[in-house]
Amino acid sequence: MAAAPISPVTARAHSNIALIKYWGKRDAALNLPAVGSISITLDGLYTDTRVGFHAGAERDSVDIGGRKVDAAPFTKFLDLIRARAGIAHRARVESWNNFPTGAGLASSASGYSALALAGCRAAGLETSARDLSILARQGSGSAARSIFGGIVEMHRGQAEGGEDAYAEPLLNAEDWPLGVVVAITDRNAKSVNSTAGMAALDERSDYYDAWVARAPDDLASMRDAIAARDFETVGALTEMSCLKLHGLMLSTRPGLIYWNAATVASMHAIRALRAAGTPVYFTIDAGPQVKAICAPEHTAEVAAVLADVPGVLDTRISGLGPGAHPLD
Ligand code: PMV
Repeated sequence: MAAAPISPVTARAHSNIALIKYWGKRDAALNLPAVGSISITLDGLYTDTRVGFHAGAERDSVDIGGRKVDAAPFTKFLDLIRARAGIAHRARVESWNNFPTGAGLASSASGYSALALAGCRAAGLETSARDLSILARQGSGSAARSIFGGIVEMHRGQAEGGEDAYAEPLLNAEDWPLGVVVAITDRNAKSVNSTAGMAALDERSDYYDAWVARAPDDLASMRDAIAARDFETVGALTEMSCLKLHGLMLSTRPGLIYWNAATVASMHAIRALRAAGTPVYFTIDAGPQVKAICAPEHTAEVAAVLADVPGVLDTRISGLGPGAHPLD
């Protein structure tokens, strides 16, 4: 039976940062990752998205931060929801990020996660968190993780159709409080988005096979360190995965260089702080921003040090946050 579209629904989803990174796809059409990943969901960075399906509308309309954007990529995603619900209604989508969009702060993770939840609810669909994760993954690989709060693992899966490529929580946010300081080194949108970056990767890095082959070991080591609440090991594995990811990006032909001078200076500042006795580790995604992971009681000190690094424009402090949830 077709689901009945109801009134518009607003959902909030928080951004996440991978400690063990995902890069590369085993199926581009279904957006299936070549490797699993482990992330933390952030309370300080989120997207609110309102979706309504309307019988009379001729096409989907999408606003981000009050500005109309090209709806085409979102129509593809909304079609997945319409197909499940058995409806043809066009959608009105309004989305707001409380942080810069498309600048390596994972707005696609929070954005597609919020859109999946608000869209399904607005279409009258009852969906499990796992189904939402599978759906969100089709918008953006990292979005599958933002359905859940705390510390989250995304499974690569083996199934051709992607039924086993979903995220699951490892620990709730309250189970092990961690802090994150984001150092913004560039406010502009990133030059090569992750989809384009991964497409360029396809068989064009000599390191790609090694990256995929080592992923299960890296994930297992991180799972163990998290279960033991061993922060030093979590931090060391986080830096290792970040540097390995960037080694892979640098070795793609042509090489992808996401760092600027302030990115590199921030990495050194974090290591210097650590050498001086503060347990803090860095990670960086497909953009120039640096994320420092530490205990919540060290975030103010870490933010002060990063704010002093030449080229750092701003810092933001965050803790671990909840999974996607409706706001209405
Ligand atoms: O979710 P996507 O397709 O934008 O890819 C995210 C890739 C990284 O942020 C670099 C790593 C990760 O696992 O989040």
